[in-house]
Amino acid sequence: MKKVSLGIAGLGTVAQGVLEIIANNRALIAQRTGIEFTVARVASRRPKPEVALAGAQFSTQLSDLYEDPEVDVVLELIGGETVAYAFMQAVVAAGKPLVTANKAVIAAHGNTLLSLRPDAAVRFEAAVAGAIPIIQAIQQGLVANRFEYVVGIINGTCNYILTAMQAQGAAFADALQTAQALGYAEADPTFDIEGIDAAHKLAILLSLAFDRPFNFDDVYVEGISEVTSADIEYADQLGYKIKHLGIARRTDQGLEARVHPTLVPKSQLLASVNDVLNAVLVKSDAAGATLYCGPGAGGAATASAVMADVVALASQESTPRYRPEAAQSELQMVPIESVQSAYYLRIPAQDQPGVFASVAKALSQHGISIEAAIQKEAQGGQALVDIVFLTQMTRELEMTAALAQVQNMPEVGGPLSRIRLETLD
Ligand code: HSE
Repeated sequence: MKKVSLGIAGLGTVAQGVLEIIANNRALIAQRTGIEFTVARVASRRPKPEVALAGAQFSTQLSDLYEDPEVDVVLELIGGETVAYAFMQAVVAAGKPLVTANKAVIAAHGNTLLSLRPDAAVRFEAAVAGAIPIIQAIQQGLVANRFEYVVGIINGTCNYILTAMQAQGAAFADALQTAQALGYAEADPTFDIEGIDAAHKLAILLSLAFDRPFNFDDVYVEGISEVTSADIEYADQLGYKIKHLGIARRTDQGLEARVHPTLVPKSQLLASVNDVLNAVLVKSDAAGATLYCGPGAGGAATASAVMADVVALASQESTPRYRPEAAQSELQMVPIESVQSAYYLRIPAQDQPGVFASVAKALSQHGISIEAAIQKEAQGGQALVDIVFLTQMTRELEMTAALAQVQNMPEVGGPLSRIRLETLD
């Protein structure tokens, strides 16, 4: 039986998940792979005596992991960017295979890291959508396909909050507070709710599916903090759910990469993926549409993806992998101003004759065509009523200009809502 020793950096929930999988499933993994995995070392800033290390040596020196000849594969599970990136560079430079769950480092520095040595062996399945083997799907299962789009619910915190707003009519701030109480959102939730975490993941999917260098700046980012319960209710009445989506898509103009709240038809399977679950819908030329769904976070679930990478590296599988030198797509990124989308608009306006017509006229002056509209009666004493439109496909640039004009109309209050809509046909 081949024996492979692991060195784990970090002792947080994912590292603990890896230790548990090895403790519980070592024999099963050995039976399937012919490899017996042990954890030789764990290095972390501070010890956690409550965590069972199964005989692994503990130290507070990260360098112990890549300097120890007994360690065959290093796992970077410390998170964050600066310390983790420096450590990962040292691991690759030392010629050790590396597995990481670190989306921020791969999205921002993946090319440099993978180019440090021609034989750099770095895997990062756990960096995108936790337990879902989406990188394997793109790089292995669908390797013979040309991708049309990769669209996903790739942030569990956002999905939990939007689901709670939908199910309970909760306001954003209350749903966020519940998510924090349940441990689904950090004390400082900015990375999740402002879309940065999802954008890191989308930057990785964009590179892998469309053969481009990793570049976080390719992704346009909006979070969910401005979505209101009224938006969710109107969307519901019109037959849609609001999801926070990452969208990487090939169009006639080039490649789009954007992360933002999106109206999705209720009939679309993605619309039924709720709570903290993640899901990724991939459309490609030969396979058609394939959907992957599962837990996008959590120690055990993320550790499952980490172990898949560990097994692949230990088995020296020569599966297709991201090669910086081959990431040379001819496709240009489409700037957000040129992106075409249908839109949901909510415009608070005075309840007077002609206001609806003036707003519709302002939209039409910018070439924006209306697909559907709702206007509710004013409830007693209400100064402004919502006019809600769904528009046909419109360029972002025209929409921005039209909304600036609408916002300046004396009969219109604020703030306006504009949320993009995707049918995902
Ligand atoms: N905080 C992330 C999420 C999980 O809510 O999906 C790790 O990326």
